[in-house]
Amino acid sequence: MRKIGPRNLLTADALKSKKVSETYTLMTELVLPNDTNTLGNLMGGKLLHWMDIASAISAQRATNRTVVTVAVDFVEFKASIPLGSVVIIEARVTRTFNSSLEVRIDVAYENLQTGERKDSNTAYYTFVAVDQSGRPIPVTDVQPESEQELAWHTEAQRRRELRLLLAGRIKPGEATGLREMFGI
Ligand SMILES: CC(C)(COP(=O)(O)OP(=O)(O)OC[C@H]1O[C@@H](n2cnc3c(N)ncnc32)[C@H](O)[C@@H]1OP(=O)(O)O)[C@@H](O)C(=O)NCCC(=O)NCCS
Repeated sequence: MRKIGPRNLLTADALKSKKVSETYTLMTELVLPNDTNTLGNLMGGKLLHWMDIASAISAQRATNRTVVTVAVDFVEFKASIPLGSVVIIEARVTRTFNSSLEVRIDVAYENLQTGERKDSNTAYYTFVAVDQSGRPIPVTDVQPESEQELAWHTEAQRRRELRLLLAGRIKPGEATGLREMFGI
């Protein structure tokens, strides 16, 4: 009988299509003095680091593969997050492509004195699943279920075209989803 080792189990999991909800990742962090700038607010780089970790966990829940970050898009810091706040980071995979997949990250922060919670920012991280030599490998589908997940899934194709266009990896004529959106 063939021995079933961890490698075989990993392959079986990696072949199984996941629901978007199965990729959901929630990270909660407390803003400590070492995380802040000279104004006493959370440093952008620290937040990006947490977002990268949360989204990488989500991507690996979807693929059961090692993933590397290839692109970070649409990060906008709309509000400062003060020292002592609780930062809440939610990540979920919106769509997989061939070897790459997109993760949406929503960030909010909470004032522990008042209990008030505010939205901070939304961003999209793109990961590529790789083998042990760092070469891209195929990923399976992720299934949207809710209307919101379906909308994110549809829009993900246009965001992919935009980022590949800006990276010079496709030509405008190949961005069919974007052309359709602009009616050209
Ligand atoms: C990710 C990496 C393996 C891709 O290698 P590559 O030679 O570009 O491979 P490919 O051309 O086959 O592209 C692989 C996938 O990456 C996607 N990709 C490449 N560059 C991209 C970019 N700028 N934006 C979005 N997706 C990109 C491609 O579209 C492709 O996706 P698909 O298979 O779903 O169609 C390589 O760029 C790499 O190792 N980068 C460093 C990753 C890393 O160290 N991250 C940590 C940051 S410090």
